Amino acid sequence: MDRYASARAYLQAHRPDKPVFGLRPHAAGVAARWFLKHFPGEVAYAYKANSAVFLIGALYGAGIRAFDVASIPELEDASTIPEATLHYMHPIKSRQAIKRAYFEYGVRCFALDSEDELEKILTETGSPDDLELFVRLTVPARNSSIPLERKFGIEGEAATALLMRTRQHCDTLGVCFHVGSHTVTTDAYELAFNTVRHHIVEAGVVVDAIDVGGGFPSQYGPNAPTPLIDFMRAISHGFDNLPVSHDCRLICEPGRALIAEAESLIVRVDARRGQELFINDGGYGALFDAAQLDFMLPVRLANREPDAGEEMQSFEMWGPTCDSIDHMKGPYQLPASIREGDYIEIGNMGAYGRAIAGGFNGYGRYLDVILDDEPMYTMFGEAQ
Ligand SMILES: Cc1ncc(COP(=O)(O)O)c(C=O)c1O
Repeated sequence: MDRYASARAYLQAHRPDKPVFGLRPHAAGVAARWFLKHFPGEVAYAYKANSAVFLIGALYGAGIRAFDVASIPELEDASTIPEATLHYMHPIKSRQAIKRAYFEYGVRCFALDSEDELEKILTETGSPDDLELFVRLTVPARNSSIPLERKFGIEGEAATALLMRTRQHCDTLGVCFHVGSHTVTTDAYELAFNTVRHHIVEAGVVVDAIDVGGGFPSQYGPNAPTPLIDFMRAISHGFDNLPVSHDCRLICEPGRALIAEAESLIVRVDARRGQELFINDGGYGALFDAAQLDFMLPVRLANREPDAGEEMQSFEMWGPTCDSIDHMKGPYQLPASIREGDYIEIGNMGAYGRAIAGGFNGYGRYLDVILDDEPMYTMFGEAQ
């Protein structure tokens, strides 16, 4: 893959017609090393966030060996990573997927949030004695951009009963949760540990592993979320106060925080109408979060210097498809002179952008280059 000092250097040599992912594998390495050093347990990577091979290579090079997968295609891919341990943490799996995961791919670790799923896992694996089963609890979301509490998890007496029943059928009993993606304050983890504690006490079971999921934030603008080190402290404190065995494992499986900084997206302005920019990628492409969830992503003019002394102005952006929801309302601050033919670098796009992009209207095709400069914002600087 071609390599450049920065998006600017790339655009001095090229005028790409397609949107371009600028990969920063070194940033994935920095994030992975930070988590491996500071998380008080095992670090897995949520493969769904971005499976670009150069980025997986960087995570691997930094020492990540465990991967959370959510489907058979992800499992097929991730199983090619040498020495990888795969955790199948989607709480709802088809019977075929469970069977293939266990027998073809050697997966032992499965999540579940219902008696039905437990029955499926036991039936399809033949109820062996080496299962690692993680009961996913519902936990309240706090300051998360993508709360997950409505979709998965079990709560109340049903959760306690499921923990007791699962204990009878597994080698390792785990508890897992997900506080929702891009959670910017630590209280969600504190509340989650209270919920976990309550259910362990009610069920009176020995728990061998706690998986706190992902949910850690990335930085998308000048206002930094709570520093990641505070999340580590909150998790460490919550874990230390659980009534679990002394050798209980603690696991996390971030997607966003490990990979967001490792990619920029370079888009071209195809038209300007007043304060509206029509660009060549959008909400059906890598900018889903900006279009559908109002993420405010960092932007900068990438192909040239702004004119001397010119002011910044607010812009909204439209994606290239014919659909009117293909709209990133921003406001995005860009030089007043921005015009057709200019290119914009959209930063910290590594999480879920590439992974979600579809091909509607014939778009969704990207070029890839490696960039050697630093991400537009980082959660892993000196101050952290
Ligand atoms: C089970 C599970 N683990 C981990 C993640 C990664 O979450 P995040 O990208 O917020 O760190 C997800 C995301 O949806 C998930 O569903």
